[in-house]
Amino acid sequence: MMIYKILLTEIDSPRPRIILYTGKGGTGKSVISCITGLKAAELGYKTLLISSDPAHTLSDALGLAVGDKPTLIVENLWAQQIDPVKETISNYGIVQDFTVEVFQSQGIDETLAYELASLPVMTTLFALLKIEEVYETKEYDVLILDTVPSGESLKSILFPKVFGNISRKLLKLIGSLNWAAKAISPLVGMPVPNRDVIEAEAKLITRLEKLGHILTDTEVTSLRLISNPDTFSITNMRRSFITSNLYGVNVDLAIINKVLPDNITDPYFEKWLGTQEEVMKYAETSFYPLPIKKMKLFDSELKGIEMLEEGSLTLFEDEDPTKIYFVGNPIETIQQKDQFMLKVKAPFVEKDACEVERIGDEAIVKICSDIGDSVNVIPLPAITHQMSLTKAKILDNELVIYFTEEDE
Ligand SMILES: Nc1ncnc2c1ncn2[C@@H]1O[C@H](COP(=O)(O)OP(=O)(O)OP(=O)(O)O)[C@@H](O)[C@H]1O
Ligand SMILES: [Mg+2]
Repeated sequence: MMIYKILLTEIDSPRPRIILYTGKGGTGKSVISCITGLKAAELGYKTLLISSDPAHTLSDALGLAVGDKPTLIVENLWAQQIDPVKETISNYGIVQDFTVEVFQSQGIDETLAYELASLPVMTTLFALLKIEEVYETKEYDVLILDTVPSGESLKSILFPKVFGNISRKLLKLIGSLNWAAKAISPLVGMPVPNRDVIEAEAKLITRLEKLGHILTDTEVTSLRLISNPDTFSITNMRRSFITSNLYGVNVDLAIINKVLPDNITDPYFEKWLGTQEEVMKYAETSFYPLPIKKMKLFDSELKGIEMLEEGSLTLFEDEDPTKIYFVGNPIETIQQKDQFMLKVKAPFVEKDACEVERIGDEAIVKICSDIGDSVNVIPLPAITHQMSLTKAKILDNELVIYFTEEDE
C-alpha cells in the first residue's frame, strides 16, 4: 500500500480520474462500478463512487446504507447516492420553477411538469454536475459514476457538451431581447425568465461548459460500455459507441458481463451459448481495436463486499482499473499544405448517412444510423475560420470534413 502511495505522487496525469459506466438496464453497471471502486481503493486511490439511480442500487450491491453525502464504505472508498429532488431544489430551484412555468404555459399540468423536470435526463445531469463540483475540489483521486438505467442515459451524459455550447448563445439572445420578450410574452403565452432565473442559468451554463471540457478530456475521463452477451444489449452498446465517438468522449473499455461458462453441458442452454458465441464474435470484430473484457455469470447475484471483491479479481485481476485502457482519439485534426481536415470517428455509419453544416465557428454534424440519429456541435479550430468547408465524407469508419483556403 505504501509503495503505491509513493507511486501516486509521481504520476503527474491530471487528477481526479473520472470513469463513467453506461449500458442497458440490468447489464451490471452498479456492480461493476462498485468492483472498480473497491479495487481502486485497495490500490490506495481515494475514491468516490457516485450514483444517481433513485432505486438505491449502490446500497443493494454493497449491502450497506449509502447516504446523499459521501459515506465511507471501506478504507479509501466513499459512496454517495445523489438525491435528484434535493439537488434540484437546493441548486437550481429557480431554474426548475421557470421550466415548470414553461411546461405549464404549454398546457401541461403542474404535477406532470414536476415529473418531467425530474426525468432521468435531469437526474443524470445533476449527478454529472456533482462530478464537476467534486472534480473542482480535487479531494479524490478517482471518481466513478454509475448511471441510471435509461436507453437515453448516454445522451444525457453527453448533453452538457452540446447544451453548454448552444445555450450560452441562446441566453445572450434571451438576455438582450428580454425587453422585447416581455412585450411579446402575453401574445405568445410563454413566460419570460426574470433576472434571477437568467443569472442562475448563466451559472448553470458555465458549469455545464466546464463539465463538457472535463468529459472530453481523454486523460481525465473514460466512458466504459457494459453489455451482456445478448443481441439487445450489444445493439445498445453499438449505439453508445457511435454517440460517444461523435461527441468526442473517449471510450477506453467495453465489458461483456454475465458470460455463461463454456463448460455448461445442460442442453437447455444450448441456444443461449450459440447466441453468446455470435455476440462475442460480433463484438470483437466490430468494436476493434477497443479492448473488450469479459466477466462470467456468477452462480448467484453479486452482492456484498466479499462477493464484489471476488468479482473484482475476475474482472481486473492484478490490473489498476483506473488506467486508461485505450485512447481512440475520437476527433482528430490534420493540417496538409493549404488543406485542413477534421476527422470524427463514425463507426457503423453508411456512406451517405451524414450531414455537416457550418454555422459560424462551429460544425453541426448529424449522423443517421439504423439505430437512430445523433447530432453534435463541434467547435472549429481557429485555423479554419478563414477557410471554406469544401466537403465531408465517410472514409474507413471516419467522417472527414475538409477545409481549404478561401480564394482571394
Ligand atoms: N457477473 C455477474 N454474475 C452474477 N450476477 C450478476 C453479475 N453481474 C451483475 N449481476 C447481478 O445482476 C443484477 C443487475 O446488476 P446491476 O444492478 O449491477 O445492473 P445495472 O446495470 O446497474 O442495473 P440497472 O440498470 O437497474 O441500474 C444484480 O442482481 C447483480 O447482482
Ligand atoms: Mg444500477
